[in-house]
Amino acid sequence: MPTETIYSLSPSGEKFPVPEKHDYQVEKERVAALVTKARAEGKEIVVVMGVGFVGAVMAAIIADTVDKSGNPSKFVIGCQRPSLRSYWKIPMLNRGESPVKAEDPEVDKIITRCVNEKKTLIASFNSEVLEFADVVVVDVQCDFTKYDLGDMRTGEADMAALEATIKTIGEKIQPHCLTLIETTVAPGTTEFVAWPILKKAFAKRGIDSVPLLAHSFERVMPGREYVSSIRDFWRVCSGCEAKARAGVEKFLHEVLNTKDFPLTVMDRPIESETTKIVENSYRATILAYMNEWSIFAERNGVDLIKVINAIKMRPTHSNMIFPGPGVGGYCLPKDGGLGYWAYRHILGFEDGDDVFKITPTAIDINDTRALHVAELTRDALRNMAHYIAGADVVLCGASYRQDVGDTRYSGSEMVVRKLVEMGAEIKIHDPYVDHWYELETQDEYPSPGHSWKRFFRNQEHLTETTVLKNLPLALKGAEAVIFAVPHKAYLSLSPDDIVKWAGQPLAVIDCFGILSDQAIRRYFELGCEVKALGRGHIQRIKSEVRRD
Ligand SMILES: NC(=O)c1ccc[n+]([C@@H]2O[C@H](COP(=O)([O-])OP(=O)(O)OC[C@H]3O[C@@H](n4cnc5c(N)ncnc54)[C@H](O)[C@@H]3O)[C@@H](O)[C@H]2O)c1
Repeated sequence: MPTETIYSLSPSGEKFPVPEKHDYQVEKERVAALVTKARAEGKEIVVVMGVGFVGAVMAAIIADTVDKSGNPSKFVIGCQRPSLRSYWKIPMLNRGESPVKAEDPEVDKIITRCVNEKKTLIASFNSEVLEFADVVVVDVQCDFTKYDLGDMRTGEADMAALEATIKTIGEKIQPHCLTLIETTVAPGTTEFVAWPILKKAFAKRGIDSVPLLAHSFERVMPGREYVSSIRDFWRVCSGCEAKARAGVEKFLHEVLNTKDFPLTVMDRPIESETTKIVENSYRATILAYMNEWSIFAERNGVDLIKVINAIKMRPTHSNMIFPGPGVGGYCLPKDGGLGYWAYRHILGFEDGDDVFKITPTAIDINDTRALHVAELTRDALRNMAHYIAGADVVLCGASYRQDVGDTRYSGSEMVVRKLVEMGAEIKIHDPYVDHWYELETQDEYPSPGHSWKRFFRNQEHLTETTVLKNLPLALKGAEAVIFAVPHKAYLSLSPDDIVKWAGQPLAVIDCFGILSDQAIRRYFELGCEVKALGRGHIQRIKSEVRRD
């Protein structure tokens, strides 16, 4: 009996039939023929497991590598499970199209070049291709699930995808193959979780050599410098023993620009794993630290933006940043959690809550800072004799940082959810985001039961969210506008235009120090109310305008 075809849907809505049982052998033969040809040309075979935000671009960078005479030296197979949610990435990559949407035009170019011109990059759903690999690069996710809003201590690492991938690798690779974990992992994972899995799989297959396993984390910034942030950036690496350490050093020297951005080699994987976790926890902590001063500033007539700019004049303090409505992005909200969790669950210590005070607090503060934006919006509306319930509010900026389309864990999501819970009617505008999956597909994304939806009431209709591109139209009739992200398009908007487009004076909420003092003054002159995170001097401007 013919079985029903199942389709995997790309973000743009294109349907790709998910492979069936008989497709696997055909696929393996297709790849085997290409591998034989590549080997005959002297190329090394690299399999990249997971072609998401990091893996897809890393795979292209490896495929773009040339030897000393300028000839392509690697043949790369991006490998992805044929799950309903992710399979579409394979046929798209095989057409030379990037499965990740990026503001960096180099992403599309490098993928097209390697797939269609150099023919050094393909994608496959069949993990049997691992048997062809000289090097396997692991770029699957390792998440940290939080169960309570504002309490990361009850959360746990979700290593299922990573463990499954490592197990598959152990069952398929040749003994000489180097496995390089690039995934951000809980410290200890490479040596104490992944290595034993590989060793066990080798033993089962009667292989008596030690699996070659290394770790080197990614520092990619999906944005305008996406490709460069992988290729032209400092890397840290380590191996489980000397041979793997030498292997990973050699590989990274070949594929990355280590001449201008030297490689740091650590003795043990736990050191390179910890480097990543401390690096991101440090960043999350200095952002969270600013939250208390932001509140102080709001209540005491101080503009924290000016304070930060004044401090940054000192070269020793030049990396101070304003936190906006939380932190967001895939890494900063979770990485400290992986460290806290590993201390107990991988490394076996029971005193985690005595040792870890700052990292969990920082994450909790960052995770909940956006709720204050809802309070500011409510108060600004109240000062204009409007209620938040039923108010038409436009949120400008859905992504987690300026001038990117990445919405993962963005503070804006928390703002929207809280305001919707309070009864507001929200419209979204963002020049970089076409679909806000965290809202549109909140019942499945990031995975069933894991949406922030579960922390709020009245969220059901958010699946109907569309992201608007025409700001004047979006603002028509608005009672409040929230500037949540400092996208370029929002930096020089004129208050007169905003009020004209809205058709009435409105509440204006600035989450990122976007408004100049002149703009704030003008909004007040036009009869608007202005509130902002960390900007207490607004009250002074308001009094001056009222007095004048
Ligand atoms: N995105 C960033 O900005 C960034 C920056 C630095 C580090 N990292 C780290 O890089 C890692 C990967 O992140 P990402 O953003 O690429 O995640 P992602 O979710 O975009 O990609 C992971 C991919 O792996 C696939 N996958 C899962 N299980 C698999 C399996 N068993 N076999 C094959 N494929 C499988 C998923 O379907 C997905 O396509 C994470 O550890 C992350 O913390 C990400």
